[in-house]
Amino acid sequence: MASRFRVTYATLSADNEDLHAWYEEGLETARGWLGRHITPFVNGEDRPGGETFEVHSPVDTSVTLCTVASATTDDVTDAVAAAKAGRSSWGNTDWQERVRVLRAAAEMISDRCAEFAAVMTMEVGKNRLEALGDVEEAADLIRYYCTQMEKNNGFAKDMDKLLDKESTRSVMRPYGVWGVIVPFNYPMALAAGPAGGALVAGNTVVLKPAPQGTFSSALFMDCLRESGVPAEAFHLLPGGDEVGQAIVSHPDVDGITFTGSYAVGMSIYREFATAYPKPVICEMGGKNPTIVTAKADLDLAAQGITRSAFSFSGQKCSANSRVYVEREVYDELLAKILERASSLVMDDPTKRDTFLGPVIEEESVRRYEKAVAHAREAGTIVLGGEVVGQTPDGVQGHYVSPTIVTDLPLEDRLFRDELFLPFLAIAPVDSLEQGLELANDSDLGLTAGFFSTDEAEIQQFFDTIEAGVVYVNRPAGATTGAWPGVQPFGGWKGSGTYGNAGGGLYYVQQFMREQSRTVVA
Ligand code: SER
Repeated sequence: MASRFRVTYATLSADNEDLHAWYEEGLETARGWLGRHITPFVNGEDRPGGETFEVHSPVDTSVTLCTVASATTDDVTDAVAAAKAGRSSWGNTDWQERVRVLRAAAEMISDRCAEFAAVMTMEVGKNRLEALGDVEEAADLIRYYCTQMEKNNGFAKDMDKLLDKESTRSVMRPYGVWGVIVPFNYPMALAAGPAGGALVAGNTVVLKPAPQGTFSSALFMDCLRESGVPAEAFHLLPGGDEVGQAIVSHPDVDGITFTGSYAVGMSIYREFATAYPKPVICEMGGKNPTIVTAKADLDLAAQGITRSAFSFSGQKCSANSRVYVEREVYDELLAKILERASSLVMDDPTKRDTFLGPVIEEESVRRYEKAVAHAREAGTIVLGGEVVGQTPDGVQGHYVSPTIVTDLPLEDRLFRDELFLPFLAIAPVDSLEQGLELANDSDLGLTAGFFSTDEAEIQQFFDTIEAGVVYVNRPAGATTGAWPGVQPFGGWKGSGTYGNAGGGLYYVQQFMREQSRTVVA
């Protein structure tokens, strides 16, 4: 389909009729792709793979989206060997040429954004605007890393001279083979961002999608294939944890990017460096707080909190899952949040008015039930708490209602554990200081929101909050919705490594190491 459209912050809007028309055409195209068989792609070759599994849509569990042949041990071995053999040719290709082909891949993604977004809607249950945003984010992240290469002259610089006849250049060089492990919740952006960064920096890539998001990640790999990235530079290894494990434990993998849970990320971080230190870039989730003071605009706060707690059914690492409100405005804010949250449309996310679709899988529904049972015992469920299990039209899927819990003890696990569900815990606090203390009392530190009209309070928030991505007075999302090149996205503490955020100024450098080159004339 020829692209009539470019998704941007301005065009990605619920009342943009052209956008909806484009998405609906994309949906038609994407429905024609259902049933695709996805296999390992190694060194330019589609391989049969081993054990096969089906991916069912969480939106309508009777629909089989695709079948996937998992990578075998041999596929992993051969992919890493081919990637290792390809290090020299791709790593020594002029960076301008790498930028050229990656920009071509980004264009292809943008051009096909509607059909890719439609697959993603059916595959992971994201609503259409969120899915369009995810696909365009994939393209924008690649472009942003290309731009960083250009702005920094490929990260090569002349150094000071000590002697006239001696000259030294600092050159950033790729590490070699890079493993990219992708989460289900951003199956295209979080494939394309890390893989795009690794590739433009000159690494070769072996990529493992999340089983539930294989189709979307494979579409990204198709774009690399069609845009001229050489076969030795990228390899697709679908499958479950065992494939990820095989990549992480392979001695010839030189770097890893992982997005997913704290537990898995930390184990990769500990395990990956064996003979010598090797880079691991992890993004590991959040238990993201919003603090609302008595000086806040409560309508803005309710809008931002509701969006960030319940968009994509709370399955974003940036989701807002706990709110601390100064006591004097607690009742008023809670009423405003309840009013908004109770009118959210939950339905098939391919429909234009749907705000939230299903959660990803049966296991998420079981976790939801456990969280609900705990919430009933420990506090008060003031909204939701129901496994709905179907759309209003009776289509069976993993639908659970947005849930708000109050009256919990402040140390309750609903204020501590990341659930990855549409679940929000709200508590009154006595002061901003107490809110900040509670917000920071977590091993995680990804995003945080703040609502106040008082400059001194805002400064206090900035000076004290321990999180990598923070927002003040943002109705579009109290804690969610970073845009590449605008809000660098990376966590502090247990939420991420190094604080060099995706879509930010210091990200692509992490895929390279410095070589000091001195020549005497
Ligand atoms: N980048 C997304 C956001 O900012 C989450 O991963 O919400």
